[in-house]
Amino acid sequence: MKKITIIAAAAFILAACCSQSKYDGPVYLNPNAPVEERVEDALARMTMEEKVGMTTAQSKFSSRGVPRLGIPEVWHTDGPHGIRPEVLWDEWDQAGWTNDSCTAFPALVNLAATWDKEMSLLYGRSIGEEARYRKKDILLGPGINICRTPLNGRNFEYMGEDPFLAGQMVVPYVKGVQENGVAACVKHYAVNNQEFQRTQSNSVLDDRTLYEIYLPAFKAAVVEGGAWAIMGSYNLYNGQFNCHNKKLLCDILKGEWGFDGVVVSDWGGCRVSEEAILNGLDIEMGTWTNGLRGAASDSYRNYHMADPYLKGLREGKYTTKELDDKVRRILRVIFRTSMRPEPNYGRFVCPEHYQAARDIAAAGVVLLKNENNTLPLDVPQGGKIVLVGENAVKKLVVGGGSSNLKTAYEVNPLEGLQAAYEGVAEVVWERGYVGDVGTSYNLVDTGQDLSDDRSPKQLIAAAVAAAKDADYVIFIGGLNKSKHQDNESTDRFDTFLPYDQQDVIEALAEVAEKLVVVNISGSPVSMPWADKADAIVQGWYGGTESGNALADVLTGKVNPSGRLPFSIPFKYEDGPIKTERQYPGIKEEGDQFWQTYYDEGVYVGYRWYDSKGVPVQFPFGHGLSYSTFEYSDAKVSKASMKADGSVKVSVDIKNTGSCDGAEVVQLYIADPVASVDRPSKELKGFEKIWLKAGEKKTVTFEVAADALSFYDMETSGWKAEAGEFQALIGSSSGDIRTSVSFELK
Ligand code: GLC
Repeated sequence: MKKITIIAAAAFILAACCSQSKYDGPVYLNPNAPVEERVEDALARMTMEEKVGMTTAQSKFSSRGVPRLGIPEVWHTDGPHGIRPEVLWDEWDQAGWTNDSCTAFPALVNLAATWDKEMSLLYGRSIGEEARYRKKDILLGPGINICRTPLNGRNFEYMGEDPFLAGQMVVPYVKGVQENGVAACVKHYAVNNQEFQRTQSNSVLDDRTLYEIYLPAFKAAVVEGGAWAIMGSYNLYNGQFNCHNKKLLCDILKGEWGFDGVVVSDWGGCRVSEEAILNGLDIEMGTWTNGLRGAASDSYRNYHMADPYLKGLREGKYTTKELDDKVRRILRVIFRTSMRPEPNYGRFVCPEHYQAARDIAAAGVVLLKNENNTLPLDVPQGGKIVLVGENAVKKLVVGGGSSNLKTAYEVNPLEGLQAAYEGVAEVVWERGYVGDVGTSYNLVDTGQDLSDDRSPKQLIAAAVAAAKDADYVIFIGGLNKSKHQDNESTDRFDTFLPYDQQDVIEALAEVAEKLVVVNISGSPVSMPWADKADAIVQGWYGGTESGNALADVLTGKVNPSGRLPFSIPFKYEDGPIKTERQYPGIKEEGDQFWQTYYDEGVYVGYRWYDSKGVPVQFPFGHGLSYSTFEYSDAKVSKASMKADGSVKVSVDIKNTGSCDGAEVVQLYIADPVASVDRPSKELKGFEKIWLKAGEKKTVTFEVAADALSFYDMETSGWKAEAGEFQALIGSSSGDIRTSVSFELK
């Protein structure tokens, strides 16, 4: 017995020595030490100057580390759809590297249109691997601002009009990115719902609207997704700039939600030193070197949290309390990213990423109309397909603003369909109209020459002539991320197609045997020409594999399963925004800023159209399949529930079509009797299910009080009132198939 004890003791001592000897350096350099211990150890070793240094940019896309301690600088990168090409140290223009052509993943609105959380996880993992491979620590995305107006120039970078959909879809993306040791920086926090005067516009809204519509997706990203970074937006909320907005950053984000990561300013979004220091901004990034506009060299010292901060600290205007909190957060991100325990190296432009881009893009394509089963295409051997429209050939990855990308290749719809029908049918292209012949952004160039000096009349005549003997005519138009379309810093002026595309569609409708219209856009486009088309498809900026993804759906290789993440109104005026003060806002005499009043409150998107009985062209959540689905036997697990309980709502879904397909079963909650005015229905659950032809499955939703609650202004908290609730189940907000009721005790 004695002998065994001695051996055991010796083994223990040896192990202890080994483990001790392995990391006898400082704790902060020990990758396996708890993050918080590493943070405190590093903080204690830093001088005040080093701490202040970490809180501001040192170049266009990097903020300082601590060279003396071997703590690396932090590399930030755009964007939500792919890793931006390397730019010059202090310029927007690209640096001309030859190894930074990335995979361009679909626009986030395309991801939202998949209504598929698995696709979102795949997206986050793939883009996170690309960021890691490019040695980036903070990915400046995803963007999740609510589509309050169809005119917003950045709807294409966001996830639609509903906070629940955006919240469910952002969480897997954040987790996927951060699995790679890269921080997702969710943006633009918050109520940044227009580009017009984005740095001078104050969003004015009540707390109920803020908490019910504009915060839930950010809360989900932080509380469920565990986001390590948040980007403050350019605009103001209730009179304070959002990059240092006390209520949004300190009270809600860091207070109520317990956010432990970093708040990064939008580039040049930090405007007031004292507020930045005291109201929760952690890293000030910039545009040009004085944070705002062109200035003397080495002006990074001029940043609001650079020399002015040091001066204030030395004069005793500030204690190091806020400074230490900022640096703790920055160190935490560094120990989770560049100095993380298990180094990994990601992957870049690999076949798996291209396949992911193609699968995600295809899964988000929305079949809006399909009269007489025009689609999928059924082209005879030796047949002819005529494509008409600039978006059949225009490369759409370049442009749009900071989400602009340089890719090794981009497959456009013409190429995608020609590949799909090689050896079977002739696929020809006619211009139809001339839109935007620009091909460059920040020196990233598509290499295309889209110039064409024919007149609109000539262009239409040529398209009509080619269409006459075609088996199918496919018009491929829409928007193109140029100014005043889907484009950062500019909004649209209306929701109709630009460049007189309607004339082309109408001319084609006169001669086409079968006319398919594909609208490629990132925002809702009104379609007064809808009855002229046999089939209508909502396509998106699908990234590198966009053309193949569209071809996959049109040919039937992929059964369309996308659903609209926003409503498509007949016309803009049908929507909830009726006055200038609502949009684009008003600037009173002597007022320093524009004021945008969210007078519509919670009545955004389908909440407005459904509650006010306003018909729309295509409703939120709408999308057809090549199959059909039957809903039956809706049930609720019990007739009533307690406030701390829940009920299970189930429904049977049968694929009554002739091919395998997916249905997005949507659950909306209605509160028919409430003490406040509430939307007639609100999305509180969805599930995308795949069913073989003839197969039936049961879908079950668990409904708890949070799905029944509204934000009560009286008590400044969430409230679910006792009484009857209805669970409306359907294929879109405008296609409720069945419902069940239950009571909240
Ligand atoms: C831009 C955008 C933001 C982007 C940043 C860096 O102004 O608003 O989304 O990440 O600056 O390019």
